[in-house]
Amino acid sequence: MNLDDYKHLFLDHLTKNSSVKEPKNLYEPIDYILNLGGKRLRPILVLMSCDLFGGNPKKALDAAVAIEMFHNFTLIHDDIMDKAPLRRGCQTVHNKWNLETGILSGDALMILAYKMFDAYNLRTHKSLLNLFNQTALALCEGQQLDMDFETQTEVSLSDYLKMISYKTSVLIAAALKMGAIIAKANETDAQNIYNFGLNLGIAFQLQDDYLDVFSETNFGKQKAGDIIENKKTFLYLKCLELASESDKKILLNLFSQKQNHPTKVAQVVALYNKYELSKVVKLKMDYFTTIALKYVNKLTVADAKKELLRDFSKHLMQRTL
Ligand code: IPE
Ligand code: IPE
Ligand code: MG
Ligand code: MG
Ligand code: MG
Repeated sequence: MNLDDYKHLFLDHLTKNSSVKEPKNLYEPIDYILNLGGKRLRPILVLMSCDLFGGNPKKALDAAVAIEMFHNFTLIHDDIMDKAPLRRGCQTVHNKWNLETGILSGDALMILAYKMFDAYNLRTHKSLLNLFNQTALALCEGQQLDMDFETQTEVSLSDYLKMISYKTSVLIAAALKMGAIIAKANETDAQNIYNFGLNLGIAFQLQDDYLDVFSETNFGKQKAGDIIENKKTFLYLKCLELASESDKKILLNLFSQKQNHPTKVAQVVALYNKYELSKVVKLKMDYFTTIALKYVNKLTVADAKKELLRDFSKHLMQRTL
């Protein structure tokens, strides 16, 4: 199976599991976000990993839907927290409806995600849920750190790496490990595919930070939303490290205000360009992708199967969306 096959298999199953019930204001936003597109990265990883370890990908479909539902729930709430007007080129849920609807439909979507695991037998159910709970809590911790950092002046690169591992990588890693669990892969393989996901997830979030500022095509989100919200991204932290004392002062000052200066974004982008942050972030992405691929080498599956993961990583790192 190729990536498109996994995606179609998944989309078909998603359709079977969605229906708009009453009250409409609870279920319509759920239907809206789930059908807004998106790369479907995490469910594809669940199916791909199950297949990789010799399982039947169809058996991983419910877990794939669970992960995508959960991901979309986090997006609804993330967009509230980040005051984001756009998602996947369309209005965010809280913007299209209202804040209250965003909170509640997000909650309901998370519960629907959990319900998807009912399809598994007791043993598998237990290990999937155990992993899912651990992941979901870590994600909340990462999201809280992300918000705390907005107003925290001292944030180190290692604080940042911890924050993005929690808010982004653990879910990508868990998607892969779920596939391994369903395929009944051995513990070592399951851990190695998890570590592949953790490192690839870091590269993925670094790229998300990069695209927020440097995307040349329409990325589907508000341009420079991270700068507007004073997010302590890799670009920002690295810029502070590389900038002259006077540029550093300017950057610190621009990021210390709640009310944004009209030329803030332009000024920050100029500094990011001056210190060639786009090159720096790409090197860092390569660094984490290389570590990720080392875990692929360790897997006890046929080399042809490993190639699919290598291809996938390469393509992901060239994404524009
Ligand atoms: C967005 O995730 C949130 C991050 C972790 C950066 P994706 O970039 O996977 O979003 P969609 O689902 O493809 O829209
Ligand atoms: C992604 O962080 C983390 C989660 C959604 C859990 P971002 O806030 O950077 O994601 P985008 O850029 O809004 O998609
Ligand atoms: Mg956001
Ligand atoms: Mg966020
Ligand atoms: Mg982002």
